[in-house]
Amino acid sequence: MQEIKLNKMFMNQNIRSAVLEVLNSGYYVKGPNLRHFEESFRDYIKSKYAIGVSSGTAALFLAYQELNLNPGDEVIVPSHTFIATATPLAFFKAKPVFVDIDPDIYCMDIEKVKRKITPKTKCIVPVHIYGHPVDMDPLLEIAEEKNIEIIEDCCQAHGAEYKGKKVGKLGDIGVFSFFPSKNMTVGGDGGMIVTNNEKYGEELKLRRDHGRKSKYKNELLGLNFRLNEIQAVIGKEQLKFLGEWVEKRRELVTFYNEIFEKYPNVKIPSEKEWAKCSYYVYTIQIENRKSFIEHLSKKKIATGIYYPIPVHKQPIIEEIYGIQPNLPVTEEIVKKIVSLPLSPLLNNEELNRIEVAINEYMGDL
Ligand SMILES: Cc1ncc(COP(=O)(O)O)c(C=O)c1O
Repeated sequence: MQEIKLNKMFMNQNIRSAVLEVLNSGYYVKGPNLRHFEESFRDYIKSKYAIGVSSGTAALFLAYQELNLNPGDEVIVPSHTFIATATPLAFFKAKPVFVDIDPDIYCMDIEKVKRKITPKTKCIVPVHIYGHPVDMDPLLEIAEEKNIEIIEDCCQAHGAEYKGKKVGKLGDIGVFSFFPSKNMTVGGDGGMIVTNNEKYGEELKLRRDHGRKSKYKNELLGLNFRLNEIQAVIGKEQLKFLGEWVEKRRELVTFYNEIFEKYPNVKIPSEKEWAKCSYYVYTIQIENRKSFIEHLSKKKIATGIYYPIPVHKQPIIEEIYGIQPNLPVTEEIVKKIVSLPLSPLLNNEELNRIEVAINEYMGDL
């Protein structure tokens, strides 16, 4: 019996041929595929700029650099996220200010964000976690009033929509990751920065390539955060399917919800009326998570925990910034969350195996 993985990467003949073509072309960086991928991503998001970079982490690093963060500047971030939302801040000696989440959608709680704002707050980072958008309107309103920048972390939210608009271009800068488990990938590491801000767009294009406009003239501080041609050509092909895959993911969410509706002790995902969640993962909360995971594992069904240790409790964060204030909601849910396989490539036989395994476990409780 084959393991049912959490995610699967889509591959077709077009991708294989396109990669081979790049290998044979002799152009491995800064070529036409990057340009085409950026253009199609920009059109998909409907932003003015889309700038390919080497990872979601690189995109966050560059976005923070672009804001010109100074030592002591505060940046409000959720703790219930991947650590890369916060760690790049340390390179600019800026301080992450961790905020608790709304327990229904796992995103930052806007009322609690408001309470964390100080004169030193330079930026707020809404993370559209699991593909569910943050409630952006009240956040944008505060940002406007207090002159605070908004960087959207969309690394788990390709194709998610807030009030009918794709996430990424709602704030000042949006960042995406194409790590292989994501809703779309580039067959390795990769990322994208999107923005409608001309200054940011023009500068970020240079910063990801040593800050240069021409080969030997470096005008801005930058590093090598380029996205290579093989990754770009895979991304371009994958993007064509993203809309279809988001719909399929949403169908799978209905499939899971129907199973779990019978078991009121399991908390299933919620979706706000203003949101279109792109469901990077299907996450439930369950008491006694360990035995549920063990049961599924015996049936060769993978599970994941995104994330078991909140960022404010990570040793490196405590080492740099000291012990952080408690975040009761985050600290409670991380004990109970577990994510189940959610790939548009799951077939009926696999779905049936998942359904049987869940019912077996729940029926025995
Ligand atoms: C919310 C979030 N932010 C940032 C990142 C970093 O992206 P990457 O792994 O491409 O560096 C990820 C990726 O896992 C993520 O999920």
